[in-house]
Amino acid sequence: MVDVKPVITKGLEGIYVSESAICKVDGTAGKLYYRGYSIEEIAEHSSFEEAAYLVLYGKLPTASELSAFDAALKESRALPKYVIGIIKGMVGKADTMDILRTALSAMSAEDKEVEDMSEAANLRKSARIISAIASIVATTGRLMEGKRYVKPNAKLSHAENLLYMLKGKKPRSDEARLLDVMMVLHVEHSTNASTFSTMVAGSTLSDIYSAVTAGISTLKGPLHGGADRASLRMMYSIGSPDNTENYINSALEGKQKIMGFGHRVYKTYDPRAKVMHKYLEQLSATGTEEVKNLISIAFRAENMMIEKLGKTRGIWPNVDFFSGPIYVQIGIPIDLFTPIFAASRAPGWCAHMIEYWRDNRLMRPLEYYNGDIDKEYVPMDAR
Ligand SMILES: CC(C)(COP(=O)(O)OP(=O)(O)OC[C@H]1O[C@@H](n2cnc3c(N)ncnc32)[C@H](O)[C@@H]1OP(=O)(O)O)[C@@H](O)C(=O)NCCC(=O)NCCS
Repeated sequence: MVDVKPVITKGLEGIYVSESAICKVDGTAGKLYYRGYSIEEIAEHSSFEEAAYLVLYGKLPTASELSAFDAALKESRALPKYVIGIIKGMVGKADTMDILRTALSAMSAEDKEVEDMSEAANLRKSARIISAIASIVATTGRLMEGKRYVKPNAKLSHAENLLYMLKGKKPRSDEARLLDVMMVLHVEHSTNASTFSTMVAGSTLSDIYSAVTAGISTLKGPLHGGADRASLRMMYSIGSPDNTENYINSALEGKQKIMGFGHRVYKTYDPRAKVMHKYLEQLSATGTEEVKNLISIAFRAENMMIEKLGKTRGIWPNVDFFSGPIYVQIGIPIDLFTPIFAASRAPGWCAHMIEYWRDNRLMRPLEYYNGDIDKEYVPMDAR
C-alpha cells in the first residue's frame, strides 16, 4: 500500500475542534464577546466575579446568584498549611508559574469532590479553583518578599483580596479597580493553547484540577501568557522613550519578535489592548514617573509597530503588550504577571471543560510517521 502523506496542519491552525457558546473571537473585526456580551461592555460594567459567573453559568447573574457565587469564592480563599509550605519550599528556586502549577495541583488533595464528575460538583470545584489560584498567586508574591502569609479578608472583593493577601494592606479603590478590569479582560478567550490543553487533559475524563493544571503549564510559555513579562522587560531594556525606535528597528533587523505584538487569530488591534489603552491614557497623566516613562515607550513602540507591521502584515498590539505598565502602577511584581493572567483565565478554562464534558470525546489527533520501519534489532555488543 502506498503511504500518501496527509495534509498536516501544524499548530492546528484553522482547525475547529469543538462547538462552544462561551466566547466569540472575531479576529478580522477585532471583536471579543463573552456569552454574547462585548468585552467593552463587560469591562465597563462588570466585576471579575460577575464575568466569571457569566462564562461559567452562561448568563448574567441576578443579585442573589451573584452573592451566592461570591460567597462560594470567599469560602475557598484560605490556603491549607501544606500548600503554603509547598509555596515556601519553591519560592526563590522555581518560576512563579511552576509554583502555581504545583500548588494548584496539590489543592486537589483537600477537595472531597475531586472525582465527582457531575456538572454541579464541577461548578462548585470551579469556584474553589478560581479562588485558590488567586490566593496562591498572592501568597507566592508575599513569600517572595520574605513576608508572612496573609489570611484572606471576606469583606473584600476578589481583586481587592488578591492585593490584600499580596501586600498585607487594603488596596486603594483605584488600584483594585485596575486589577479588576485587567482580570475581566483576561477571563476567557476561546480555544487558545492553554484552554485547548485543559480540554485535552479533561477529555480523558481526568478531573478538573488536572485539566486546569495543564492549562497553567501551557500558559507559561512566552508565545502565550508569558509575553506580558517579556514585553515589560523589553520596555525596561529600551529605557528611555527616545531609544524606542532604535531598539525596535535593530530587534526587527535581527529577526527578533517584538513581544506583545501579533496574534494567531487577531489580524487587527486586539480589543482587550484597546480597553487597556484607555486606562494607560489616564495613567500617562496620573501614574508614577516610572509608569509614565513606560507608557511613553509603549505608545511610541505601538505607533511604530502599527506603521511597520500592523497595516502591512496584520501584526498589531495584543493583550500582553500593555499589561506591564498597568501592573507596575498597581505594584504587582513582574514575576506575578503570568500567574495573575492564570488567576484571571481560570473561569474560562473551567467553563470550557464543563461545556466540553457535556458531549465528551477523547482528544486524539494523528501524526504522520516519517521514520523507518522493519529495522533489524541490533544486539548491544554489536552497536
Ligand atoms: C502570537 C504569535 C505566536 C502568533 O503568531 P503566528 O500566527 O504563530 O505567526 P508566526 O509566529 O508564524 O509569525 C508570522 C510572521 O509574522 C512575524 N511576526 C509575528 N509576530 C511578530 C512579532 N511580535 N514581532 C515581529 N514579527 C512578528 C513572524 O516573524 C513571521 O514572519 P515571517 O513570515 O517573515 O517568518 C506571534 O505573533 C508571536 O510570537 N508574538 C509575540 C509573542 C506574543 O506577544 N504572544 C502573546 C499572544 S496573545
